[in-house]
Amino acid sequence: MRVNQPHLHYGFLEQSLGTNAPQQLPWGMPAPQAPLAAPAPHLFVYLFISDRALSGPKQPIRLPPRGEAPTSRPFPHRNPLSPQRLPARQHQAALPSHPTFPEQPPHGSAPPAHLRRGPGAAAAAAPRGLPGGSTTWRPPPRRQPAPSSRPDPRRPHGARAAARSPLAAAAAPPPARPLRAAAAMLRPLRRRLSVPQPPLRRRSSASASGPGRRLLLSTPIFYANGPPHLGHLYSALLADALHRQRGLRGAGPGRFSTGTDEHGLKIQQAAAEAGTSPPELCARVSALFRQALTQAAVSFTDFIRTSEPRHQRAVCHFWGALQERGALYKGSYEGWYCTPDECFLPESQLAERTDSQGRTYKVSSETGHEVHWTKEENYMFRLSAFRDPLQKWLRDNPRAVFPNPFYQRVLHWLGDDLPDLSVSRERSRLQWGIPVPGDSTQTIYVWVDALVNYLSVVGYPETHGEWWPAAHHVVGKDILKFHAVYWPALLMAVGLPPPEQILVHSHWTVRGQKMSKSLGNVIDPSACIGQYTVDGFRYFLLRQGVPERDCDYYDEKVVKVLNSELADALGGLLNRSTALSINPSNTYPYFSESCFPKILDYRETKALGRASAEDYEFVVSVASLPLQVASYFEDFQIYKALECIALCVRQTNGFFQRHRPWKLNRNHPAEKLWLDTIIHVTLECLRVFGTLLQPVIPCTADKLLSRLAVEPEERGLSNLTFLPRYNGKPCPFEGRQLGSDTGILFHRLEKSSQHQIENRRL
Ligand code: MSP
Repeated sequence: MRVNQPHLHYGFLEQSLGTNAPQQLPWGMPAPQAPLAAPAPHLFVYLFISDRALSGPKQPIRLPPRGEAPTSRPFPHRNPLSPQRLPARQHQAALPSHPTFPEQPPHGSAPPAHLRRGPGAAAAAAPRGLPGGSTTWRPPPRRQPAPSSRPDPRRPHGARAAARSPLAAAAAPPPARPLRAAAAMLRPLRRRLSVPQPPLRRRSSASASGPGRRLLLSTPIFYANGPPHLGHLYSALLADALHRQRGLRGAGPGRFSTGTDEHGLKIQQAAAEAGTSPPELCARVSALFRQALTQAAVSFTDFIRTSEPRHQRAVCHFWGALQERGALYKGSYEGWYCTPDECFLPESQLAERTDSQGRTYKVSSETGHEVHWTKEENYMFRLSAFRDPLQKWLRDNPRAVFPNPFYQRVLHWLGDDLPDLSVSRERSRLQWGIPVPGDSTQTIYVWVDALVNYLSVVGYPETHGEWWPAAHHVVGKDILKFHAVYWPALLMAVGLPPPEQILVHSHWTVRGQKMSKSLGNVIDPSACIGQYTVDGFRYFLLRQGVPERDCDYYDEKVVKVLNSELADALGGLLNRSTALSINPSNTYPYFSESCFPKILDYRETKALGRASAEDYEFVVSVASLPLQVASYFEDFQIYKALECIALCVRQTNGFFQRHRPWKLNRNHPAEKLWLDTIIHVTLECLRVFGTLLQPVIPCTADKLLSRLAVEPEERGLSNLTFLPRYNGKPCPFEGRQLGSDTGILFHRLEKSSQHQIENRRL
């Protein structure tokens, strides 16, 4: 792969014209006499040095210290392309920061309308001076302690009460900083808990949960070349669970975007194969995605299609801003292009294959997709100049790419050379895409087009400042480089900060094999939902999906997990604890302090009531659950949150079974007290489980909470208390009539031999 960059030609030009030569050139583009295609062979050594020198200044971009008000100076002063940061010779290659758009547009073409200065220029199109000062770098918002009337855990009454009683921590309403304070309260108990423990370190922006804190959560936008499959749904469910959990925490206004990625060669080819036009194919496939996500209860607030005018406008503006800030140049480019992955690949990422006719061909070693040698004149993005700023961004934000193995992977990539990136394709090859503004011979590279969707949904270039950079992108590992290298660099190049966090997940295989159309093993989410129910399938994917490693799908596993955890353990517990035979009044029974007295340390105190040491240990586990679950959500370990809940459900079943409430005589006053207490504790546990499960299985959780007579306004995560009566506090549920729906919470599934394979034709 070789890029013949215009700035390399400056080497040639400087030799013949002297160092002022570039100033005589329009807009940093090569002089007409400078060849665009092949540089003279004798210049290669010099060109190499020049290229290295241009690969980015060694000093990192200076950012204002945290908390400092953004300066009024626009970003270009800190832009790695800004001349003041480059050695003398490079000044000429880099483009000036003021004014940045050339009077003489490159190659004699007129500047795009949206960038024209003076009368007639669209006000909204000016990249600088956007509303909200959004073109200047701002440090990520500091955590705001939530103003709250709740007790301050640092005050004596909170801290001492927690130290005195194991359950006080859980029974007390969450403090102003629920995670940190509750973690401190529960720390002495952790050693005794049998559930896996999350790290106590709290630090990410995701936890900056002051009221009013906005956040945009996003899924990737899905290629509109084929119907949705299991992998797509998994990306969307992870984001959905985070979005729902955030809403239940009352963390502040949130948006949740998804959509379809509709341009590019692969869509163009898929349309041709389907015997239709790209717009027709995209309309059909986009509707399938919308339908599949809606069917799976994915609670998106924004659905964007890259063929929409609002997005095209945003992309054109973004392109103009890149051009204006000198981040683009035109160069001839050749290399191996992989259409299914829509990217050029270096030799080091290729492998050779032989087909049935003995023909050898090259494929991407990562995805196995075939590549083709392509030689074109393209616009290039000066990605190489952003290596240091990207490294600094990552060093300063160790959770910017999460979980950590993916962060390390990105750092590793940045340790290697970072060549400039081809960001357009010749229009003669790719017609289905957004034309380069002012150059109708080129189409904008589909990845630049697609990534800008995260800005278009928040109203770029007008209103994005209200949301950006408070954005968390959920992405699969295959598109990590696009999100964690290209996207932040593109954003920096236009003067915008990178997104706050990129949350990465691994892939699903099917019976040990990669999902692929050719293997005929692509799993259809709609068929799965038909078979396992919406909540069943959501639960399975989120319970079994581990972000750091690939997971294997097979139907028998789904049946096993759902039967054992949702039908038997959770559903069975609800059924048994609300059975009319043991609770004929169908009310939330009363808790008896004499049966379950508050004690200082259950290991040392001889039980006074009827509860055993095991019972105390179990309620401590459940008491710590909300904190643990919150912590795992924050760490993007939803499967671990579900594992903890499943363990507590098992413990609650153990508690119920141990005391055999069906053997107690309701007509005997002492036994009645204990019977009601057992049911009360069990319903309290179920209430906590139902509340915590809402982001994952919203319908089932709703059914469970309705059965327990928990009102909608009592289902929030920020005010979730457990067993308040143990701490002498009133329990609003005691004596309430339980809900009327006594139906089965989750039906057992039959062992299925039917495989949920995608077989739709487009
Ligand atoms: N269009 C791009 C994304 C552009 S975002 C600016 C794209 N689309 S995709 O349809 O191919 O993939 C969408 C998501 O599905 C990605 O997060 C990808 O990782 C995920 N998955 C695709 N196959 C997958 C599995 N087999 N398993 C899990 N997720 C996988 O890439």
